[in-house]
Amino acid sequence: MDLSRRPRRNRKSDAVRQMVAETQVNTSDLIFPLFLIEGSNKKEEVASMPGIYRWSQDLLYKEIEECMNLGVRSFDVFPSLSEDKKDKMATEGLNPEGIYIQTLAGIKARFPECCLMTDVAMDPYSSDGHDGIVENGQILNDETLEVLGKMAVVQAQAGADIIGPSDMMDGRVAHIRAALDAAGFTNTSIMSYTAKYASAYYGPFRDALDSAPKFGDKKTYQMDPANRKEAILEGELDFQEGADFLMVKPALAYLDVIRTLKDNFDIPISCYNVSGEYAMVKAAAEKGWLDGERIMLETLLSMKRAGADIILTYHAKEFAEWQKNNR
Ligand code: PBG
Repeated sequence: MDLSRRPRRNRKSDAVRQMVAETQVNTSDLIFPLFLIEGSNKKEEVASMPGIYRWSQDLLYKEIEECMNLGVRSFDVFPSLSEDKKDKMATEGLNPEGIYIQTLAGIKARFPECCLMTDVAMDPYSSDGHDGIVENGQILNDETLEVLGKMAVVQAQAGADIIGPSDMMDGRVAHIRAALDAAGFTNTSIMSYTAKYASAYYGPFRDALDSAPKFGDKKTYQMDPANRKEAILEGELDFQEGADFLMVKPALAYLDVIRTLKDNFDIPISCYNVSGEYAMVKAAAEKGWLDGERIMLETLLSMKRAGADIILTYHAKEFAEWQKNNR
């Protein structure tokens, strides 16, 4: 055969393949979501997320230290609260003495060099299990912004580096930006959950936090999985309102949306490799149906290739361990 183009030449050895690899995943691209529970000396595995735990504050600090030693430096902490701490207005989310804010401050005191991201939404503290204020079965938008703005400021006071509004209310980035700036936190970043879809992939997360909605679903505020162009509208609004990063969530079933935001906006794009995506990999690996490690690597790579600069992933620590042993 007379072939002048033989693409296989660039695949002939591992050294050549690595040299021509277009995409790489690095531990420094990853943000590790962590679940916080009340009490002390507690480490409870999330049933639907093997290898992922709900930590009490003391053990969470130890876990963060281990991660930092592996090169994972960015964390997103989510609180799991008992029902008696929840109410309609998510009051506990504004409590500077509460377990969440205290722990954020504790993390920053112990690990000032880490990048600490926080979650702004009402659901972990809401007796309705929704991301906004509920009145007569409706989620109120503008009234919710007031709560979110205050929540962001309390978190910034505790030392948050990046505020992550995960609620999908309209206008929240502008409102949170203004609230942060008015309180002097002009240097606190916002990573907006820009294209957050109403997804069944959040199931294990809601188990971990006991945060499932008490009635209905989140379809009046989270996006319809059928829509891609609407993500551009959300991106434009968040960009104009001052977001520093735009996020797509979930990730694996929305790689086209990641690419769309990457092509339309010149600020860093992140994606959230969510709980259900993690659970699927672990379940199949436990059954011996898939090679869990290779699936993890391929999945993270696909998100980078789609255009994500940053990946929030429950695989972060596992990936860091892999990278340490293999590169
Ligand atoms: C809620 C929130 C959710 C997740 C992060 N923040 C769940 C939801 O919207 O119901 C999901 C993360 C995951 O599934 O890993 N504000």
